Amino acid sequence: MNDSKRRVYFDHNATTYMREEVIEAMLPFLHTRFGNASSLHFFGQENRGVIDEAREHVASFIGAEPAEVIFTSGGTESDNIAIRGVVRAFREKVPEPHLITSAIEHPAVLKTCEALEKEGVAVTYLPCRRDGSIDVADLEKTVTDSTILASIMVSNNETGVIQPLKEISGILRPRGIILHVDAVQGMGKIPVDVGELGADLLSISAHKFYGPKGIGALYVRRGTPVEPIYTGGHQEEGLRPGTENIPAIVGFGEACRLSALHLEEENAGIGALRDRLQEGILEKVPNVHINGGGAPRVPNTCNVTVPGIEGEAMSLNLSMLGFALSSGSACATGDPDPSHVLKAMGLDPVEAQGALRISLGICNTDEDVDAFLETFPKVVRRLRELSPIKGES
Ligand SMILES: Cc1ncc(COP(=O)(O)O)c(C=O)c1O
Repeated sequence: MNDSKRRVYFDHNATTYMREEVIEAMLPFLHTRFGNASSLHFFGQENRGVIDEAREHVASFIGAEPAEVIFTSGGTESDNIAIRGVVRAFREKVPEPHLITSAIEHPAVLKTCEALEKEGVAVTYLPCRRDGSIDVADLEKTVTDSTILASIMVSNNETGVIQPLKEISGILRPRGIILHVDAVQGMGKIPVDVGELGADLLSISAHKFYGPKGIGALYVRRGTPVEPIYTGGHQEEGLRPGTENIPAIVGFGEACRLSALHLEEENAGIGALRDRLQEGILEKVPNVHINGGGAPRVPNTCNVTVPGIEGEAMSLNLSMLGFALSSGSACATGDPDPSHVLKAMGLDPVEAQGALRISLGICNTDEDVDAFLETFPKVVRRLRELSPIKGES
């Protein structure tokens, strides 16, 4: 069983490595071109232009104007600035505001909404269907006169299920309700266009698509009311004050430029690998099911439940055999509770505990898939023999 020295990375939804070109583009700014873009001397001024250039790459990737892109430290910060910033902006006009989100959002959105509830904001957490998608009719029913914002993700980090944002914005826009979209797991996997989605605010994170960690952006449609949640300098329209992280911004711009160039061809390849992997699992391992398999999904994600076996036991065993993947989302690792996403999809706790998230990326090959299909059934068989709840082996 331990016949392979192969190391396979199947956890691209947790993070990705940087493309070579991204590292190359960043290097001068980690060394000789260290100036602060706010400085008036030439060290500063020669770096102003590279921020503008990166902003253009990010904006063009999502169909926005450069002036609508605010650099942040990543998805979590973008979500916070967006949601808290809108609530602040409406404080006087709507003293008892109502927000809509879904039960399957990332903790960056869920915990922000929960914190706001403690400050008197009413929040509706929409359920999802068994296939992991949100029912637009549910959303429409929950809209009230006090609803100021809805926050819904492009695609889910655990299942990859794509949410019906066009229909959602079609309901919200005529009513003047702001739509915030967490696009962290969609970027680089499917086309994300703020105009097509009808997003007023949209969060991005570079490390999910071959850019650096600790950098992201918030798209703010011109005229969208967002009050700053931080105090400090003038940078990023005052929404994200603080000295710009120029090496990361440059790398982020390059990651966007390259992802835009290769999106279609790279993801067609990844999708074919994912489908072959999934079919192989269903064929070789009895009594398993694919969570979200019936809904439209991003091409790189496969979430499989093996009832009776803990996902954590599977991922640890697979890790020892050279396969890096996740039992839930990376943010929930170490959390003994089953995934909130799978619970919302109606899986019972045993099924939800038995989930494994396989997320592919541009480095993966047919050989990686073959090696996994060789190893995974053996791991499942062995763990099922040890399990007190005997699944079929
Ligand atoms: C859907 C979603 N939103 C937000 C985040 C947080 O992004 P970051 O790691 O850049 O803070 C993640 C990270 O996994 C995510 O998957």
